[in-house]
Amino acid sequence: MINRAEAIRPFYVMEIMARAQRRPAEAPEVVSMVVGEPDFPTPAPIVRAAREALDDNRIRYTHALGLDELRQAIAQDYQDRDQINLPAHRIGVTAGASAGLLLSLAAVLSPGDELLVPDPGYPCNRQFALAVGAIPKRLATHAEHNYQPSLEAIQQAWGPKTRAVLIASPANPTGAILELKTIQAISEWVRSKGGWLIMDEIYLRLSLQEPLYSALTVSNDIISVNSFSKTYSMTGWRLGWVVIPEALVGVMERLAQNLFISPPFLSQKAAIAAFSPDARAIADGYRDQFLRQSKVLLPGLEALGFRLPVQPAGGFYGFFDVSGLTDDSFRFCEELCDQAGVLMAPGRDFTEDHAQSMIRVSFPKSEPVLQEGLRRIQAFLARRSCIGRAV
Ligand SMILES: Cc1ncc(COP(=O)(O)O)c(C=O)c1O
Repeated sequence: MINRAEAIRPFYVMEIMARAQRRPAEAPEVVSMVVGEPDFPTPAPIVRAAREALDDNRIRYTHALGLDELRQAIAQDYQDRDQINLPAHRIGVTAGASAGLLLSLAAVLSPGDELLVPDPGYPCNRQFALAVGAIPKRLATHAEHNYQPSLEAIQQAWGPKTRAVLIASPANPTGAILELKTIQAISEWVRSKGGWLIMDEIYLRLSLQEPLYSALTVSNDIISVNSFSKTYSMTGWRLGWVVIPEALVGVMERLAQNLFISPPFLSQKAAIAAFSPDARAIADGYRDQFLRQSKVLLPGLEALGFRLPVQPAGGFYGFFDVSGLTDDSFRFCEELCDQAGVLMAPGRDFTEDHAQSMIRVSFPKSEPVLQEGLRRIQAFLARRSCIGRAV
């Protein structure tokens, strides 16, 4: 029997990145569309707040669920943007959405319980479930249904051991959203089964269409995970949060005390400034640029034969079907890396169903970088069609 840790799978994106590092020193710099990370700096007011906290030099543990002032600021932000009134004690600050997801799963799953996870989806979710001894159960979704699960699909997949379903909206890798009325129906049904709906809302504030509202507007029983990483260009600060249903606040606090002691102090002090009007304006500007970038890259790739089954509604990814160009998307990503110096994420990180035909492209890069990426891909495809498809 393999032990629990050995069941954890690699993140294939990392293999592409390692491959890029092995490129010859004289090769041109890579155009990376592989990692879900904005190119922008963290907004200056946030950095300034961190510097002040550093100068003050009293960097200590905090309450396990975070600094009061930050929890209040996060709660106030929901009031301002979603018109929902959340008491600050229901906000649990965590080391990124990653720690928030782990904490949430540790709170609601016991060893042997099942967690429903949509496919395609964020690959770490399955591994988080395995890490707490639970069993991730794949919930196939389809492009014709916007790559999101329906209530009926969840009802069919729900078995005697199922305890929770984890859905991202907007999702990674597809950018697809789930309508609030569907979220409400799923939440009510899941609660009627004594289970939990966990919503990953890390891309909520990065709408590429009309503004989006938190799933918390339709239910207080949802566990909602969020983060500063993407919205505020703060990936390296490792800070996020969970909005915790009242009934789970105690258990999540005890788990957080034991697992993490506290989220990082300096990042928390910095993040309080994320809610200042200046920082908000900068982050909103970043979001507007993601939209402009999407308008450069997505049609540019479509013109080169990449097919986009679902237009992303939020976040900064396109999940492309490249079956017209290759029958092995992993190999295609390797060749793109070696021969064109362009990095993309192979489908096998995100899906079992169409792993060979899909790739994820991440577009929060400057427009000249994206244009250069498109030029290189065009040249790569032209070379390939001259020498015959290397598949
Ligand atoms: C859907 C989703 N959830 C969670 C995370 C983890 O983010 P964080 O940096 O906040 O840990 C990511 C990161 O890419 C993501 O795409």
